[in-house]
Amino acid sequence: MTGRKLQGEHMLTEAGRAEWMSRNAQASALAASPFKQDFPLLAARPDLAFLDSAATAQRPSVVLDAQKSFYETMNANALRGLYQLSFEATEAINASRAHVARFIGLKERSDVRDIVFCRNTSEALNLVAYSYAPTVLGPGDEVCITIMEHHSNLIPWQQACKRTGASLVYLYPNGDGIITEEELRAKIGPRTKIVSAIHVSNVLGVANDVKLMGSIAHEFGAIMIVDGAQSVPHFPIDVNDLGCDFFAFSGHKVFGPMGVGVLWGRHELLEAMPPFLTGGEMIDSVTEQGATWAPTPEKFEAGTQDAAGIYALDAALAYVESVGFEAMQARERALVAQCMRRLSALDFVRIIGPEDPDAHHGVVSFNVCTVHPHDVASILDMDGVAIRAGHHCAQPLLAHLGIDLCCRASFAFYNDSTDIDRLVDALKHVWQMFHGE
Ligand code: ALA
Repeated sequence: MTGRKLQGEHMLTEAGRAEWMSRNAQASALAASPFKQDFPLLAARPDLAFLDSAATAQRPSVVLDAQKSFYETMNANALRGLYQLSFEATEAINASRAHVARFIGLKERSDVRDIVFCRNTSEALNLVAYSYAPTVLGPGDEVCITIMEHHSNLIPWQQACKRTGASLVYLYPNGDGIITEEELRAKIGPRTKIVSAIHVSNVLGVANDVKLMGSIAHEFGAIMIVDGAQSVPHFPIDVNDLGCDFFAFSGHKVFGPMGVGVLWGRHELLEAMPPFLTGGEMIDSVTEQGATWAPTPEKFEAGTQDAAGIYALDAALAYVESVGFEAMQARERALVAQCMRRLSALDFVRIIGPEDPDAHHGVVSFNVCTVHPHDVASILDMDGVAIRAGHHCAQPLLAHLGIDLCCRASFAFYNDSTDIDRLVDALKHVWQMFHGE
């Protein structure tokens, strides 16, 4: 680790406060989000400040309608039926697969076959840890991950190392939340076989330079895996530009349904890997004692797929494209800057992570002095403010920051400044309840 330690909690500097004040001028445009009307839950609950989109985003009506319409108009088991309805269900999956490929920057028709549907990011990463890792790992080898990992990109590697005798090596950020090239070169080397990193931290909001990590990994013949669960909702992805070998994300964080996730992998790697789960429709042929596998992606999609969810994911990606990442990012940045400025004015609140609001992609973590984060979240809930509090499935990161737990407000483009007003008022209520001031 280089430089000063990333601060678990800090107060704003004067310079930081002035910078955020000026940015907040843009944020006046954030009053009354026009987007909430697209989201039935938000439209129906105007008194709710939903600030937990990093855990799961809300879904627009076009996504809910698509899911219902699948069951109403094309419900049949895809791939298996030799009748029109089943062909339509298969076509719905194929169209969504093609859309996912375009969404993550893939351009060739053949690339579509490198998109594997699974349940979520955790399952996608487990697939790689179970199917790919044993083909390259053994005693003396190393898997390199960051200390910022969500447990979904940490425990699969702990387990893979235990199974194979390899070692797990951690990359640590500097005081600005950046994992420097110096740190990468100190940790990635000839023993490294796999580098796997969270693209955007679900606690700090910082984006890791996975492109640089990948290029250093490749210098040593290692592969690069990116956990995109928290980046896909916030900025455009081009997996070839990132130069990674596997990329995973969840539909429910990108305004799609729960239960549908995506793994993209380089074709030659997927083709060479054994299946993860075995069973229906993932085979070429089966005898009493053996089986041969279907090509990718079917090889990795055992059993009946959540076809309605996959169809609805297609609608979610279309919705994101219709809003546009530029507009989404502008709103999210302004919201984060406004939130950090408002929280910094509360002398009983400590913000966690970098001071630069642009380094917090949709996420502001904080603690209220002397008040347990679970108490904070419960009192906020009484005031109609939904945040997440706890270890955020990132216990090693919190230990590194020197804290056990924290609160997290996370934003999507549909939030507005009234949500921040409610958060600030509710935090004052927390302080008043505990300290009577
Ligand atoms: N990974 C999700 C979060 O950070 C659940 O809240």
